[in-house]
Amino acid sequence: MKFINFLFFLFLSLSYYTSNAGEGMWLPFLLSDLNESEMRDMGLQLTAEDIYSVNQSSLKDAIISFGGFCTGEVISNKGLILTNHHCGYGQIQKHSTLENDYLKNGFWAMNHSEEKTNPGLKAIFVKYMEDVTNRIMAAANGAENREMAIQEEIAAIIAEQKNIDTYDHQIKPFFYGNQYILIATESYGDVRLVGAPPSSIGKYGADTDNWMWPRHTGDFALFRIYANRDNQPAAFSSENVPYTPERFLEISLNGVKDGDFTMIFGFPGRTEQYLPGVAVQQIMEVVNPARIAVRDELLAQLDRRMRVSDAVRIQYAAKYARISNGWKKWKGENLGLQTTDARGKKAKREAEFQELVSQNEAWQAQYGSILEEFNTLYASYQPHVLRETYFSEVFLSGLEAVRIAYTMKRFVENPTEKSAPKGLDEFYKDYNHEVQTEAMIALFELFANALPESEQPRAFVALGKKYKGNWAKAVDKLTKKSSIATEDPSKLLAGLEGDLDKVAKQISNDAFYQFAVAIIDEYLTEQRPASREVKDAIDALQTQYMEAQLNVFGEDKRFYPDANSTLRVSYGQVEPFSPVDGITYNTQTYLDGVIAKYIPGDYEFDLPKRLIELYESKDFGPYADTNGKMPVCFIASNHTTGGNSGSPALDAHGRLIGLNFDRAWEGTMSDINYDISRCRNIMVDARYILFIVDKFAGAGYLLEEMTLVETAADNL
Ligand code: ARG
Ligand code: GLU
Repeated sequence: MKFINFLFFLFLSLSYYTSNAGEGMWLPFLLSDLNESEMRDMGLQLTAEDIYSVNQSSLKDAIISFGGFCTGEVISNKGLILTNHHCGYGQIQKHSTLENDYLKNGFWAMNHSEEKTNPGLKAIFVKYMEDVTNRIMAAANGAENREMAIQEEIAAIIAEQKNIDTYDHQIKPFFYGNQYILIATESYGDVRLVGAPPSSIGKYGADTDNWMWPRHTGDFALFRIYANRDNQPAAFSSENVPYTPERFLEISLNGVKDGDFTMIFGFPGRTEQYLPGVAVQQIMEVVNPARIAVRDELLAQLDRRMRVSDAVRIQYAAKYARISNGWKKWKGENLGLQTTDARGKKAKREAEFQELVSQNEAWQAQYGSILEEFNTLYASYQPHVLRETYFSEVFLSGLEAVRIAYTMKRFVENPTEKSAPKGLDEFYKDYNHEVQTEAMIALFELFANALPESEQPRAFVALGKKYKGNWAKAVDKLTKKSSIATEDPSKLLAGLEGDLDKVAKQISNDAFYQFAVAIIDEYLTEQRPASREVKDAIDALQTQYMEAQLNVFGEDKRFYPDANSTLRVSYGQVEPFSPVDGITYNTQTYLDGVIAKYIPGDYEFDLPKRLIELYESKDFGPYADTNGKMPVCFIASNHTTGGNSGSPALDAHGRLIGLNFDRAWEGTMSDINYDISRCRNIMVDARYILFIVDKFAGAGYLLEEMTLVETAADNL
């Protein structure tokens, strides 16, 4: 019986693998142990050492963390970097004016002196990574205060490292604190904007096409790293020179075909692959529906106004994009979790876990009740997480007037030049009071109906009672005399130029301000800590569960740590997928598809004339596919997430074939439960990028500093 069980489990874990070859965000310094042979079986022509090495230059030396939340890569020996248009969006926007609207028309520096500086923008290279788990654990085990001992040991290791080299060091927990890795980085602070296509290419399809396949977006931008005369990191200076990298990526002109090996090298932000089934159920049934419900309402309110007013559309474009980006992802996530029966898979895995644990006395003692405890903890977390989700969606991120009012608290309590609210001009430039009022009425009502009264802030309940649930009236009274939630902020802005004590006094008497402060303070001082207490217990148990999974399944399952914004390699292949019965998606899109979506004058699907001309004259240069068509985007089964934007897609030789920028929404549950049947990442084809730079923008001089590789077909 035992033997049969064993075989059965072995079979289960093997099949788990073969069916999910694209799964995993792997640590680059462990590839030789864990992945190299599989990668080579899948077609990789390089060694693990070619990808990551501390002894010689390797591909990793061309990869940067860009701007804090994206990835980028060096593509020339003059520090030229490639990332997404949506990653450089803020910089492009900052340089744009009405006369020089680079967002709208694109921007191309025709020489170094035209490149634009971006104070604060950083490009960060990883120099080396090192497992320091043993030292941390040695310090932690037996310590009276475990957390403190860990922090002290981390500080000690970093201090030692400072004597060895001049890099920046940090130590990050992996596997929920079951592994600790030292990461040394070097940060370059002079990064200049070199080129960006118009939004009608770089953001083509905008929110309608966001997260969607088939896709036709040229989501790329070019920057350049500058260094001092010794090629060392330096703040901006006109004396700085283009950075000479240790490594830059070659670009392939060969394109891709189905079955080709691909890998993604970058900084994925956050995933949750090792949660218990009850947690996944809570995400599916409580958290995501709440988030989606609030955003459904908010997006409908904004859309209604944006459609009929250009002014509102411009004011709310960025906010709408942000709100809808999460909304669409969570919808896809829930759909994918249901379709692939994520709950069922977790249940099966947990039964297996429990069975293996029960066969080992030590495990039984240590891990036997973990799943049971999760059930209890998540049940008691439910009301908390529901309230947390609604509160933060409505009051912290949804209604900008509430948020801005609360940021004035520090000033009201201690009015000084320094505590005075900053950036109000910009806030009001993109604020429409009528739109906000309508959103407020709708979301207040939704909030009041979504939660039991005992879970709502007292000031909110009181407001509802006072106006007998007439939220339109409540909002009207609340904002009527407000100098903050107002269509005319001039009084507030002028006040801040004059007597600060006086304006602070006025704000403190503002009913809207008082309301915002009352609800948010109650949330932060009472409700948040109550949720935190349960969440801390869940987190502690998750650390234990992770350890248990590593021990119990470790023999026949390779583990990769959840994404935590550290450098990772994912690999898979170019492959079609079928999200519903009867539809199979091809892997490649073409310029024909861009043209087919064209809607003249539309704010999402307009196109530059020049691009249409190039299409009509078929002037594709050397960038066309073998079928004569101009490739635009492609998909593959690489496991990616937010933060992988701007990551290079590399072929079997480590050459750049594409630029990662999105996933297909049907597979966004890969953050929780990757399934190769529908998880696909979306990349801009490298040939489209070159075509736009060369043929569309006429910035062909940039191609001269790149290394383009074309291999005869029989040498591939
Ligand atoms: N979905 C991509 C990501 O998660 C792109 C987002 C930017 N584009 C947009 N239309 N909002 O970040
Ligand atoms: N657009 C995402 C980003 O900004 C990448 C898409 C994803 O979540 O996979 O990182």
